[in-house]
Amino acid sequence: MASMGPPPLSFSTFILSLYLFSLLLRTTYSLPTTLGVTYFTPVPTTTQPKPPPPVHIATAISSLGFNSIRVLNPDPTLTRAFTYTNTTLFLTIPNPLVQPIASNRSMALRWLYVHVVPFYPRARITTISVGNDFLSASPPGFYSFLLPAIRNVHLALRDIGIRKISVSTSFSFINIVSTPFPPSSAEFQGLASDNLIKPLLQFLRDTNSSFLINIYPYNVYRLNSEIPIGFALFQEHPFNFRDDLITGVRYRNLFDMMVDAVISAMTAAGFVNIPVVVAETGWPSSGDALEVDANSAYAEMYLRGLVAHLKSGLGTPLRKEGVAEAYIYELFDDEVRWGKTPHERSWGILFSNMTKKYEIEFSGSDSAGGSRAFLCLCSFAVAVNIIRGPLHLLSL
Ligand SMILES: *[C@@H]1O[C@H](CO)[C@@H](O)[C@H](O)[C@H]1NC(C)=O
Ligand SMILES: *[C@@H]1O[C@H](CO)[C@@H](O)[C@H](O)[C@H]1NC(C)=O
Ligand SMILES: *[C@@H]1O[C@H](CO)[C@@H](O)[C@H](O)[C@H]1NC(C)=O
Ligand SMILES: *[C@@H]1O[C@H](CO)[C@@H](O)[C@H](O)[C@H]1NC(C)=O
Repeated sequence: MASMGPPPLSFSTFILSLYLFSLLLRTTYSLPTTLGVTYFTPVPTTTQPKPPPPVHIATAISSLGFNSIRVLNPDPTLTRAFTYTNTTLFLTIPNPLVQPIASNRSMALRWLYVHVVPFYPRARITTISVGNDFLSASPPGFYSFLLPAIRNVHLALRDIGIRKISVSTSFSFINIVSTPFPPSSAEFQGLASDNLIKPLLQFLRDTNSSFLINIYPYNVYRLNSEIPIGFALFQEHPFNFRDDLITGVRYRNLFDMMVDAVISAMTAAGFVNIPVVVAETGWPSSGDALEVDANSAYAEMYLRGLVAHLKSGLGTPLRKEGVAEAYIYELFDDEVRWGKTPHERSWGILFSNMTKKYEIEFSGSDSAGGSRAFLCLCSFAVAVNIIRGPLHLLSL
């Protein structure tokens, strides 16, 4: 009995389909910035509520739509909860360990044997930051421990045969970038520039790693009364712009200006094309009585604007591909961490009872993107059918 199935696709239809499909992939799935969130496991005390179980953290991260978590104080039970998930992990070695690790590579090995070796690669650890904003957190002169510590962690990873985890360290924008505006005039400041930043940038280039920077438009806005609030909050407005008269570039938001200041400072130091990762960013939903701009309406505007901007794929004026990754500070209000004092800033995107503070779609495939993909698929199917018809007539 003859088969009544549809005729097989002709070769030319097949090639055409492949071509259309590749177009579809290219237009719909251009890689967005990896979007993550920071998390600090609360230290249990007798008065504090118990921290949420690690499995709940892992579930919360993926159901919120984040691709990645940056753990500020890594804990093996938390890392274990992320094995066999698609969430990538960015681990931070706490500042007090920087000096011991700098002086002894076996200290680095010991840390890796607790935090990485038991889980990798089933837990997708991609990055280790040696310290977090170590420069601000340590006495002057201590910066000389940073690079030896970074090298020791890198070498220790090689010792145990891991080549795909990159090693770097994070800085705070306000501490490290001098004369940031206009961005084209930005430089890394002070003694640290020649003695730390340049050799670090060389290390990052040699090891294909990223420059990690904490970027808080909130702090820059508070220090500069002439910056309009809308410019800091990603609000589209005809008058919300700043021109860099040297480069002729127009900026529509403060975040891009800060990222480009970092890129200009790296260029001034002689390094182009090193990826930038925003290791922390956010806006507080409450603060002390004087911080009128720390409110949940502004926090929501900032986060919504940030996510839309990163998903747009527009990059920054000086870097088309934009930042490689960005981490929102932070998952929970820090009342869990420190106990709530009345005048403390809250940065969490979740309340401490794990309910959402904002209705923001953090996931890379938002509903608009999803329906775009669906439309593309439909037109792809229609196109294939339209083309298949005549081609089959021809091949008959
Ligand atoms: C991880 O992603 C892959 C490919 O997108 C998918 O098939 C798999 O189900 C995901 N795993 C989890 C645990 O979400
Ligand atoms: C480095 O640390 C290891 C154990 O952590 C110790 O045995 C060794 O003596 C130390 N080396 C130096 C040079 O301090
Ligand atoms: C450098 O990193 C990028 C992205 O992480 C990767 O695509 C590329 O293959 C890496 N290159 C080398 C030489 O490791
Ligand atoms: C969670 O906490 C927030 C803020 O304290 C509160 O508004 C909300 O009602 C709480 N939700 C639940 C389910 O307890």
